[in-house]
Amino acid sequence: MKLLISTLTLLLSTKDAAAKVINWNDYDAFPQQVLKPHNVEPPHLVQNFQKRGQSTMGRITCANENFILSSSNDLKSIEHCHEIVGDLIVTSTFDSPVLDLYNLQTLKGNFVIEDCQSLIRLSAPQLENVQGDFTLSSLTSLVTVELPTISHVNSLTWKVLPILSQADLPKDIIVDKNIIISDTSLSNINDFQSIKDVEIFNVNNNRFLETIKTNVETVRGQLSIHANSRELELEMPYLQNAENLTVRDTRSVWLPNLQRVNTNMEFIENLFADLDLSSLKFVGGTLGIIDNSNLHNLDFNNVTEVQGGLMVTNNINMEKIDCFKSLKLVGGAIYFEGTFTDTDFPYLRLVKGSAFVKTTSNDMNCNKWVRPQNGRSIVRGGKIQCTASKKQNSISLDENGSVTETSERDISIPKVVLSNYASKLTYRNWVATGLSLVAVALLHNFV
Ligand SMILES: *[C@@H]1O[C@H](CO)[C@@H](O)[C@H](O)[C@H]1NC(C)=O
Ligand SMILES: *[C@@H]1O[C@H](CO)[C@@H](O)[C@H](O)[C@H]1NC(C)=O
Ligand SMILES: *[C@@H]1O[C@H](CO)[C@@H](O)[C@H](O)[C@H]1NC(C)=O
Repeated sequence: MKLLISTLTLLLSTKDAAAKVINWNDYDAFPQQVLKPHNVEPPHLVQNFQKRGQSTMGRITCANENFILSSSNDLKSIEHCHEIVGDLIVTSTFDSPVLDLYNLQTLKGNFVIEDCQSLIRLSAPQLENVQGDFTLSSLTSLVTVELPTISHVNSLTWKVLPILSQADLPKDIIVDKNIIISDTSLSNINDFQSIKDVEIFNVNNNRFLETIKTNVETVRGQLSIHANSRELELEMPYLQNAENLTVRDTRSVWLPNLQRVNTNMEFIENLFADLDLSSLKFVGGTLGIIDNSNLHNLDFNNVTEVQGGLMVTNNINMEKIDCFKSLKLVGGAIYFEGTFTDTDFPYLRLVKGSAFVKTTSNDMNCNKWVRPQNGRSIVRGGKIQCTASKKQNSISLDENGSVTETSERDISIPKVVLSNYASKLTYRNWVATGLSLVAVALLHNFV
């Protein structure tokens, strides 16, 4: 199915190439060579290479819609090619432990190797450019990838390569679109030092991965790092913008220049004690800081606006929620739960959703939430509930933040009704019911 899709994609994306193929037959410059399926030197290519000062002697271009290697025998059809125009696809029946494309320099198409159990080593010592996507998927014997001269691919998608431990790529490789590396045995990903921007940067389930270092400045889509080694150190010193960001299960995070996340941003179950995002100014969706058991020092002090919800829960080493010194607006609800002794938001002027604050600490004073000055709250979502010192204070508010109802309960007396109510409100529950973080942005009423 995937194969079909990528073939179709190619058909759609290389109409031009297909057209050229037809023309090249007319120009067949080396009729004495075995054409398998087409190896010709189109005149315009010859010119191009002469311009670049390279010898064209014996440089062979092979063009077809696609080249399918379903056994090592099929290699004969392409091993002499310096340039391939069309997709290069290695199928599950390919029976050699080594794929060595020793002549290949340019691939004008996709390079796809999928579901092949025999392949142990992939080598393309001269390959410089893959104009399409480079996909390695479900290759359970693959140990080594050697692409020492590759300088460009459109997207790089490596998935389910469980024993791949060595990838030889130059550090200045350019990837235009997506970098997806999932379920490998790589221990470092330091190879993307010259890329300024990508669409997706997703690195997950690489059990031995200890460092990710990249100089990417913009992630136009998803930036997601999760389920790698628990020792993972993430360093993206030049990152300024991301569409959304998920960081889970890491040991340290360094994002000193991150200024803007256009939609959701979440840090979940990380082991770091410090999270310094002092350059961050804006979060266009929900910001979640959840279950980071060592987290102690946070700095989100330049964030002025969180357009979705703000969720800070179960960070058991966080003493106070006071790391949002410039925050003015929360576009969704507030949801804080943990052991914190205080909350402090000196510039917060408007919370469009409701607010739920719950701590096991006796030091937290709920009055700052439930006894708004002048009887008017910054919270406009209809409800505030603050639980501390075994007391649960709830207030209802009208659309202008005026208090319409107050109540206080002693929660040291267990009540069945109460515990039902409480469990309804845990974020785990929201996640479990498929509402996830986005729910916070939408949540205006708790009951
Ligand atoms: C992140 O953004 C990408 C691209 O915009 C989108 O496909 C994906 O669903 C988003 N993920 C989350 C968790 O918001
Ligand atoms: C935070 O914002 C202030 C004022 O806009 C600016 O002077 C300061 O450099 C910012 N801090 C960081 C780390 O970007
Ligand atoms: C909220 O304020 C607006 C404008 O002052 C007013 O028209 C409206 O009646 C108020 N709503 C309530 C419920 O008091």
